[in-house]
Amino acid sequence: MARNPKTSFSCANCGNRSPKWLGRCPACGSWNSFREEAPPTPAAASGWPALGGDNAPEARPLSTVSGIGVATATTGIAEFDRVLGGGIVPGAVILIGGDPGIGKSTLLLQAAANISRRERPVLYVTGEESPAQVKLRAARLDIEGEHIHLLTATAVPDIVAPIDTLRPAAMIIDSIQTMHAPGNASPPGSLNQIRLVTAHLTREAKTRDLPIFLIGHVTKDGAIAGPRVLEHMVDTVLYFETGTQDPFRLLRAVKNRYGATSEVGVFAMTGSGLQEVNNPSQIFITERPDSLPGSLATATMEGSRPIMIEIQGLVSASVSAGIPRRTILGIDKARAALMIAVMEKRLRLPLADKDVFLNVIGGLKVAEPAIDLAMVAALISSHGERPIPAATVVIGEVGLAGELRRIPQLAVRLREAAKFGFRRAIIPKKNLDPDEECNMNVAEITTIAELPDALYR
Ligand code: TYD
Ligand code: MG
Repeated sequence: MARNPKTSFSCANCGNRSPKWLGRCPACGSWNSFREEAPPTPAAASGWPALGGDNAPEARPLSTVSGIGVATATTGIAEFDRVLGGGIVPGAVILIGGDPGIGKSTLLLQAAANISRRERPVLYVTGEESPAQVKLRAARLDIEGEHIHLLTATAVPDIVAPIDTLRPAAMIIDSIQTMHAPGNASPPGSLNQIRLVTAHLTREAKTRDLPIFLIGHVTKDGAIAGPRVLEHMVDTVLYFETGTQDPFRLLRAVKNRYGATSEVGVFAMTGSGLQEVNNPSQIFITERPDSLPGSLATATMEGSRPIMIEIQGLVSASVSAGIPRRTILGIDKARAALMIAVMEKRLRLPLADKDVFLNVIGGLKVAEPAIDLAMVAALISSHGERPIPAATVVIGEVGLAGELRRIPQLAVRLREAAKFGFRRAIIPKKNLDPDEECNMNVAEITTIAELPDALYR
């Protein structure tokens, strides 16, 4: 028998659809969440933004389109602007995700204060905290907030209502999980609602050239609730993370239609709000112990900026016979495994029966191969219990044959190292342009077999 195409069922929690009723949603696992859905309704009743009508879009020649994607406003926080791709672009929808308590509301309240002081007012919509709670935070941040307009609301029509009269320079939604669009039965925070609310707000942003910041909580498995769908709908996705050294916070772009995604902003949470850390090398490198085996410095690139980091390696006799431990933090695990294998083969270093630990201090995650050589050096140093001379940096990519490979931006990295008092660098041969001034005594090597000598010369 042909199924009636008119009715279907959908999960009230995640929006998953099924032609028949199911006791448990196969997508999100919730029980008893399937509800019968009415046959397709006109757009207006479904809760989705209406199509056509007076606002129907018109096609026009590309040559007549005025420039977009150019940042015209600043958050007043250089580290924030950097991650945004230079500043705030009119009409941009920016999602900021992070664990509860990491400082999302703090960052945006600070930005709101700056924006509203320089431009027009900022509309701050809170669905999570009472005005008194926001006021308490503002007091801590020493923000008067004359031009920050606080709105306690969770329904889309209430949120957008003040836009016309207030004409804000930016709008902040704290948080997207607490908002809902009328005409849709799914609970706030469900996939359906998040998607719907974002669709409504995106349309407001685009038609009014109003930048909108959406705060999103991150679920246990690390995704912004309403998994990847949101990332596709917005222009920019930023994640706020904490390093292992507590006061520090990293703001990282994972998607940006207006700038590079490799940029990282660095902050420290203090008693009076987030402070910018304009010189991140300082925090990642200054506490480095001089004379401990297994510790050394290298320079990594985060976007366009070099950052000095400390890498620590530890090689110790394995207690669990047969299954040595490999604990790798802040470094790509496959890359680290590769380096361990190359060291065994090319340096004849017996690591198969040893536990190996590698760690980037400060909680930074480094994905680029330019830190290969530093990993190798850290493990050589720990294995031989010989500290690496304090003023030495080690930079380079290592291939499977143990050969050194050239890495990008070497001179920029070396200049950063020189700034922090490093005097000697071990780098791949033919990598450094002889014309580049780097203020450093360099040792160029071609394979990792030359590394021990170069380190302890
Ligand atoms: P918050 O911005 O509320 O986090 P989120 O919005 O991401 O949940 O920040 C919460 C934490 O930051 C809270 O534990 C208190 C701390 N904090 C400070 O240490 N200093 C400050 O000036 C402020 C405002 C908060
Ligand atoms: Mg908050």
